[in-house]
Amino acid sequence: MTKAAYDVVLLPGDGTGPEVVAQARRVLEAAQERHGLALRFQEFPCGALHYKKTGREWEPEAFAACKASDGILLGAVGWPGIDLPDGNIAGYNVLFGLRFGLDLYANVRPTKLYPGVRHAISGQLQSVWKPQNVDLVILRENTEGLYTNAHGALTRGGVTEVAIDNNVITRKGCERVIRKAFELSRRRGRGAPKDGKKRVTSIDKANVLRGSQLFRQVFDEVGQSSYPDVERDYAFVDAYCQWLVRQPEYYDVCVATNMLGDIVTDLASVLQGGMGMAAGGNLGDAHAMFEPIHGSSPKHAGKDSVNPIACILAGQMMLQWIGERYGDDKALAAARTIESAVAAVCAEGKVLTYDLGGTARMSEVGSEIVRKMATV
Ligand code: IPM
Ligand code: MG
Repeated sequence: MTKAAYDVVLLPGDGTGPEVVAQARRVLEAAQERHGLALRFQEFPCGALHYKKTGREWEPEAFAACKASDGILLGAVGWPGIDLPDGNIAGYNVLFGLRFGLDLYANVRPTKLYPGVRHAISGQLQSVWKPQNVDLVILRENTEGLYTNAHGALTRGGVTEVAIDNNVITRKGCERVIRKAFELSRRRGRGAPKDGKKRVTSIDKANVLRGSQLFRQVFDEVGQSSYPDVERDYAFVDAYCQWLVRQPEYYDVCVATNMLGDIVTDLASVLQGGMGMAAGGNLGDAHAMFEPIHGSSPKHAGKDSVNPIACILAGQMMLQWIGERYGDDKALAAARTIESAVAAVCAEGKVLTYDLGGTARMSEVGSEIVRKMATV
């Protein structure tokens, strides 16, 4: 059922986070106006700099608002030299407070190369991949693996002698993210660019790790029993890294445990023009949080220089999620408008930030995308 208005929480955070979130907000506001959608924004400070000022990474009412919201957009958290007493970076409990606290078990990271987007590999401002060959999505399990609290260190006489992280893999954790991956392949429907086949790839290390063996077992059970129309494909994570770069067109949807997914999604972002283009959605059954994958980029903060497109696309994914969750065609249309405007600005190649070989300021890219939204 559609809602008269959707509650959206903005968590700008640290460094370039507030700048990119401000651009995403402009774009969301233009989208709601154009499509007659009502978004109610609430913004809360959070992160390392907030911690330095107040001794808290965020306020209790911020989490409560996130819990009550229809969508959350997070900029970035973290600042060099601001750490928590337990050694974690300040801001850690915002990011993981949401992922674990709202049970956002599937981290969905699309890798799509828009025509006109260039990237600097070894200083070459051109793309080595054809845009039509890069259109895949990686799902990363987001609530277990090496990221749980099942870790610790042995410190004797002030010297840390042993540190242990446990890779916690559960049947429930595997099953729900794997199911989402198969569902997504069906929903996309277009399959892999290479052969049009709907395909889900298990990225794991099942030749060594027990957790990966369980992951593969559940992958086969779920795929066989519920998704016989989707091809099952397997890749050990190390081999996957080279195949992804050599032949991205082979992939449709890929699914991995937490840490493996963390690593391969940074690699995948290179295929789409770098971190300035990469957005992700942390999805649960009842809640969702969206973020650019990049960090707070302290050295660029306050300069109006970084690429806002990753955060704008995170906002676009949020509208898509709201549209699907509530069956709201206006939200879906708004998401399409944003994506088309981003694609048009990239294709024209005139107003782009430095990372894509352009000379525009961040705010100029935001303005250009808003302008394009009126015409696409
Ligand atoms: C990511 C990031 C985070 C993670 C960091 C900032 C803790 O790398 O979202 O990919 O490891 O999940
Ligand atoms: Mg990461």
